[in-house]
Amino acid sequence: MSGDTRAVVVTGASRGIGHAIARRFLAEGWRVITCARADVPKECMMDRNWASHIVADLADPDSAQSFVAEANAILGEAPLHALINNAGVSPKTPYRERLGVLNGPIDGWKDVFELNFFAPLRLARGFASALHRGKGAIVNITSIAGHYVHPFAGSAYSTSKAALSGLTREMAAEMAQLGVRVNAVAPGEIRTAMISPEYEALVPRIPLERMGTPEDVAGTVFRLCGDDFAYVTGSEVFVTGGQHLY
Ligand SMILES: NC(=O)c1ccc[n+]([C@@H]2O[C@H](COP(=O)([O-])OP(=O)(O)OC[C@H]3O[C@@H](n4cnc5c(N)ncnc54)[C@H](OP(=O)(O)O)[C@@H]3O)[C@@H](O)[C@H]2O)c1
Repeated sequence: MSGDTRAVVVTGASRGIGHAIARRFLAEGWRVITCARADVPKECMMDRNWASHIVADLADPDSAQSFVAEANAILGEAPLHALINNAGVSPKTPYRERLGVLNGPIDGWKDVFELNFFAPLRLARGFASALHRGKGAIVNITSIAGHYVHPFAGSAYSTSKAALSGLTREMAAEMAQLGVRVNAVAPGEIRTAMISPEYEALVPRIPLERMGTPEDVAGTVFRLCGDDFAYVTGSEVFVTGGQHLY
C-alpha cells in the first residue's frame, strides 16, 4: 500500500457498527482493511479504497495472528493511521439467557474474553510498528455495560468490556511513547443484530428518547482518529444518548 491516503484497520466489519465505521472512513477517502468471519457484501469490494477484507476468527489466537500478518503484508512499509477494535460478542447460554455469574458454562467466559479483550491486545501489539509509522490512533469499542449493571448484557460480556476500558487506559499510557493515541467509545443501545427486541423497553431510560444507530457510533470513532483530537488519549466517549447519566 502506498501514497498519501490514510489507512485504517477495522475489525468486525461484515455488519453492524463495524460495517458503518468502515463505510464512514471510506466516505472520508481513507483506505480500509477489514476482517470478520464472514465476507462483506460484494458491492463493498467494488470500492477500490476497501483495500482488503480478510476472513478471520479473532477469538482464535492463531487466526488473529494470521490476520495481523496478512494485513501488515498489505501495508508493507506504509503507515497505519488507525486501528478500530470493534469485533465483539455478547453470547447467550443454551437456554438463551446471557452468560452470568450463576448460569452458563464458565468456559464460555473464556471465549468472550478471547474476542472482546485479548483480540484488541493482540492487534495493538501486532500493529504497533505500523501505527508508530503513522502516528496513529486506536479506538476500542467498549460498552455502557462495562460501567453499570445492564439488565440484558450478562456478566461475562460486561466484565470483558470493563476490562477493555481498563486496557484502553494502560494502552494509552504505554503507547504514547510510540506517538500512538488510544481511546475508547462506549455505545449504549445501538440498533444492530447484537440487541434483541427486549431492548426496546430501555428507550424510556434514554434522555435523547431513541436508540442509537451504527452511524452515530461511526461518526464519533472517525472524529477521534482525526487531527482535532491530537491531544486526546486515554479517554472514553459515551455514545449513549445520555443513558449513562442515570
Ligand atoms: N449494538 C449495541 O447496542 C452495542 C452496545 C455496546 C457495545 N457494542 C459493541 O459494539 C461492537 C459491535 O457490535 P454490533 O452491535 O455491531 O455487533 P454485531 O452486529 O453482532 O456485529 C459484530 C461484528 O463482529 C464480527 N465478529 C463476531 N465475532 C467475530 C470473531 N470471532 N472474529 C472476527 N469477527 C467477529 C461479526 O462478523 P462475523 O459474524 O462475520 O464474524 C460482525 O461483523 C461490539 O464490540 C459490541 O460489543 C454494541
